[in-house]
Amino acid sequence: MQRTLFRRSHAFKTCDHEFFKSGFARFIATSCRAVVLPRFGGPEMLQLRSDVEVPQLKPSEVLVRARAVSVNPLDTRMRSGYGRSIFEPHLPLILGRDISGEVAAVGTSVRSFSVGQEVFGALHPTAVRGTYADYAVLSEDELAPKPPSLTHVEASAIPFAALTAWRALKSTARITEGHRLLVVGGGGAVGLAAIQLAAAARCQVTTTCGSRSIDRVRKAGAEQAVDYITEDIELAIKGKFDAVLDTIGGPETERIGIKFLKRGGHYMTLQGRGSILD
Ligand SMILES: NC(=O)c1ccc[n+]([C@@H]2O[C@H](COP(=O)([O-])OP(=O)(O)OC[C@H]3O[C@@H](n4cnc5c(N)ncnc54)[C@H](OP(=O)(O)O)[C@@H]3O)[C@@H](O)[C@H]2O)c1
Repeated sequence: MQRTLFRRSHAFKTCDHEFFKSGFARFIATSCRAVVLPRFGGPEMLQLRSDVEVPQLKPSEVLVRARAVSVNPLDTRMRSGYGRSIFEPHLPLILGRDISGEVAAVGTSVRSFSVGQEVFGALHPTAVRGTYADYAVLSEDELAPKPPSLTHVEASAIPFAALTAWRALKSTARITEGHRLLVVGGGGAVGLAAIQLAAAARCQVTTTCGSRSIDRVRKAGAEQAVDYITEDIELAIKGKFDAVLDTIGGPETERIGIKFLKRGGHYMTLQGRGSILD
């Protein structure tokens, strides 16, 4: 951790929870390393800087020391200029939504987490200071305890994709026990999370995926897995669905998804106008 300034490092080492919750909101690191994006463009635009400011915590915020962050499709799209109208005034940006790490400090009103605890989570899509830094700031409600069975690398790959699936299935389609769900693209990050969430809600899940993903999607809870390359999807799938989550969103998957939808059902695409930030 080059050029990181430690204040009261003895308190950090002893993980003195009461000290951190006593209203002393700026401590540990005042600057840290971060991967920053000064201008929109390709990966060559990314720069590693060692002196990026660590912001002061608001009362409901948590400072997380990153152990792993993941590269999400939204990060690469933001890097190329997606959401320009929101993000351009904030250049240089720190990209990154997902993180897994340890709580380094908590704001004064945080009750769910304590210093030293292992956590994982994801920032809101429009957050302007991302997670590609030694220290990231997230709201208390953007974090959860990291399951001990997962490594930090594994945990950092889950939150944003799983929350995308959660919003589609729980907030939009309001899936419930007995519903039939079709996941187009079950082999991807969002699709695999959707299968698991729907299976946990006792829905019947059918999915399309590549041959390499068949075993994985079945283990995740899909009752039927159709290989979109070697099988005729329209012949293989029977009946109609209460909800279709189309993680591919091309004209052909959209046509098929809508064809298999029950009257009044939800067709949800990750490529539609609603997914565009600017
Ligand atoms: N990841 C996120 O957090 C997130 C959040 C919001 C929106 N999105 C958007 O959602 C979309 C999916 O993202 P993702 O991260 O889940 O993608 P991903 O992990 O890269 O997976 C995409 C998968 O789609 C499968 N596939 C490709 N063509 C297909 C087809 N015609 N039919 C069925 N499956 C097909 C492939 O699976 P096989 O390996 O089985 O062939 C591929 O692995 C992207 O457009 C992304 O921008 C992603």
